[in-house]
Amino acid sequence: MFAAEIYKQRRKKLIQQVSNGLILLFGNKESSMNYIANTYPFRQDSNFLYYVGYDVPDLVAMLDTQSGEQILYGDDLGVEDIIWMGYQEKLTEKAARAGMDLVRPMERLAGDICKAMTKNRKIHFLPPYREERKSQLSFLMEADCNKDENLYSEELIRAIVAQRSVKDDLEINEIESTLTSATRPMYLHAMKMAKPGVAEYEISGMIEGMALQQGLAMAYPIICSVNGEILHNHYHGNIMKEGQLLIIDAGAESKLHYSTDITRTIPVGGKFSSRQKDIYDLVLKAELEAISKIQPGIPYRDVHMHAAATIAEGIKDLGLLKGNVDDILSCGAHALFFPHGIGHMMGLDVHDMEDLGEKYVGYGDEFQRSEQFGLAYLRMARRLEKGFVITVEPGIYFIPPLIEKWEAEGKHKDFIRYDKLKSYFDFGGIRIEDDVLVTSDGHRVLGDPIPKTIGEVEQVCTL
Ligand code: GLY
Ligand code: MN
Repeated sequence: MFAAEIYKQRRKKLIQQVSNGLILLFGNKESSMNYIANTYPFRQDSNFLYYVGYDVPDLVAMLDTQSGEQILYGDDLGVEDIIWMGYQEKLTEKAARAGMDLVRPMERLAGDICKAMTKNRKIHFLPPYREERKSQLSFLMEADCNKDENLYSEELIRAIVAQRSVKDDLEINEIESTLTSATRPMYLHAMKMAKPGVAEYEISGMIEGMALQQGLAMAYPIICSVNGEILHNHYHGNIMKEGQLLIIDAGAESKLHYSTDITRTIPVGGKFSSRQKDIYDLVLKAELEAISKIQPGIPYRDVHMHAAATIAEGIKDLGLLKGNVDDILSCGAHALFFPHGIGHMMGLDVHDMEDLGEKYVGYGDEFQRSEQFGLAYLRMARRLEKGFVITVEPGIYFIPPLIEKWEAEGKHKDFIRYDKLKSYFDFGGIRIEDDVLVTSDGHRVLGDPIPKTIGEVEQVCTL
């Protein structure tokens, strides 16, 4: 945990931003895999981590915005639990670490909420992302959380998004030191391992093992696939063949659960073909140009569109698109090759605060999400501010079912050279991703550099 004072300050600021009532912050419970006692690795809720920090199940914080009272609800373990689970700090000690001095047993929570509701006090809580939390909230609030999205406090969501979006030096250090000491070595190792005959799971297993060896976890399920055209491909069963491209999209999570999120595309056997080089250099150009545009005040949607223009122009030069690039961009024909957004906010979650709603985190009041294929997947459009940490991750993919569908529909046929695309059906995809801090006058790519140019990647592959 950070020092208690950090959590105190964060809660003080939150309480100032919420006009009245009680704020409820739920820590997560254990989640069962195949029977109750056999649980998935525990992951604390990120909002709870941010404001309370304590990383064990079954805690709830209640903050009174009027009186300033802050209560940690939980239960001390009995000796029966200690026999199986070992000693845990007492609730008062847990609260002290978070700078809180009031504790109550969990059985008091429902009654305290009920009492506040009878006094017509507003209860602020966040949208749940686990089913058991939905049921608990429905019971506590005497309402159906599956049906009524208006139950969640927009005021609380907005206050938290404003606060968590801007990372302080401690948070930036968590991300940056994890990139350098954990995520970077994973990629150096993977590049050396990407040889014909090796299974994808040998590499994904090595990556996860390297995180575990440092007492860390992964920030999200590893993408490690020679079918990189499948954007979130979690199948790792292929045996790699010479000449294939291996996309690895992975990142360790720091001890305090700050994410990292890197992608590299690696030639199996160590050498890119000339066709792969053309596409790789185009993705790299899009990434480097996008990074160069990052500074406070620029809408991230503009950075996305700049990357889309670079990709569209380059693909046109390769003879796979035709016509005017502005027309290609406005109708969205380029999204056949670049169907996702340029990046997203990153912090305690890899897609930071996605549980609170992308419209608040990535769009705000100034921007509306497009309905156009491709642009609709842009997670972040809003203006950048100093202290944001964002990913930059353009890619080019050849997705046979999508190409076939669009061709059958005659979609964008004035721009797309469908006749030339058949020979790319076995290409896969290329994505390159880094994590970038918005600084007062520009940006900084976080962490020690991870090999990225064709020359750098090929050199590590053949070590
Ligand atoms: N790292 C996966 C993603 O950004 O969606
Ligand atoms: Mn990402």
